[in-house]
Amino acid sequence: MDTLILNENEADKAAEIIKNGGIVGMPTETVYGLAASAFDPDAIKKIFLAKGRPADNPLIVHISKLEDVFKVVSKFDEKAKILAKKFWPGPLTMILPKSDRIPSIVTAGSDSVAVRFPSHSVAKKIIEFSGVPLVAPSANLSGKPSTTRFSHVFEDLNGKVDALVDGGDCKFGVESTVISLLGEVPRILRPGAITPEQIEKVIGKIQVDDSVFHKIKDGKPVLSPGIKYKHYSPNAEVIILKGEKDHYADFVNKISSKEEGVLALCFDEDISLLSVPYISYGSKNDSFSQAHNIFDGLRKADKIHAKIVYVHYCNTGELSLAVYNRLIRAAGFKVIDLEK
Ligand code: TXA
Ligand code: MG
Repeated sequence: MDTLILNENEADKAAEIIKNGGIVGMPTETVYGLAASAFDPDAIKKIFLAKGRPADNPLIVHISKLEDVFKVVSKFDEKAKILAKKFWPGPLTMILPKSDRIPSIVTAGSDSVAVRFPSHSVAKKIIEFSGVPLVAPSANLSGKPSTTRFSHVFEDLNGKVDALVDGGDCKFGVESTVISLLGEVPRILRPGAITPEQIEKVIGKIQVDDSVFHKIKDGKPVLSPGIKYKHYSPNAEVIILKGEKDHYADFVNKISSKEEGVLALCFDEDISLLSVPYISYGSKNDSFSQAHNIFDGLRKADKIHAKIVYVHYCNTGELSLAVYNRLIRAAGFKVIDLEK
């Protein structure tokens, strides 16, 4: 299939393709999304096919004005209203009871739906010009790191989708915070740029689902089907190392004499101590830059054919939890604490 490449001033063309049943990669403030009309099951099937996404993993529906939320959900309670007022448009997704208009392919048969109002100007225009809410999973091949640069989307989806819109680099670089409002106590299912602390400040007590930090035991029911699957994985093996920079550098420098293809995915502060190939994903003290660069770093590891990537991780800022959540999945939950 020929994929049309559009620039960020061509939201109208992207919308025209979507109106005609096509699928389009578009930038958002979190990661690139692969968009189709939320009311068009045939177009949505094409998304699952292009990504190689399992059919039981539901999609987020994106809106470009608040009143459209009622096309998507059947209930929008007080807490949802407060969260929308505070954090929309922006990187927050709410799980709520679905409206009858949302086809079951969107929600993988569930009665609830994920809804988000992105802040990216191009995404907002594409949704608005399409005239309908749009589903948009992250625009990567299923299982691979999400796409946060245009080059990433091009690599994964050129030739597989109708169009790709080049919007440059995504601001945050990790996907939206997902919060379920279905239960008595709201529950974070995926951490993102909006932190649990920010949310608690406006709606009171919330819970952070266990799956955010740990592997879910086989057989245990999962609230967010996406977390069952292997995620964010480059071809290389990934291992997370927690600890001070000297210990990190010692470990990686030593192991590179025993193992082939070692890459350090490190902080700026580590560089001068390393005697192995490295890619920095930001300063230790800047969790925003870490989030912005983490998927790019994992993808670059494959570009240079690294066999084993040792990622330095420290919990130092607002976005650290979101970064950690992506890293433990990329690493298949392999974490070494160098201070123990
Ligand atoms: O930032 C984002 O949210 C990006 C951009 C493109 O908007 N989108 C994104 O979509 O990350 P995706 O499909 O890669 O991740 C959606 C996650 C999955 O883990 C999925 O299982 C979960 O949200 N999800 C979607 N609908 C759900 C539902 N009804 N109940 C529980 N989890 C749901
Ligand atoms: Mg995804």
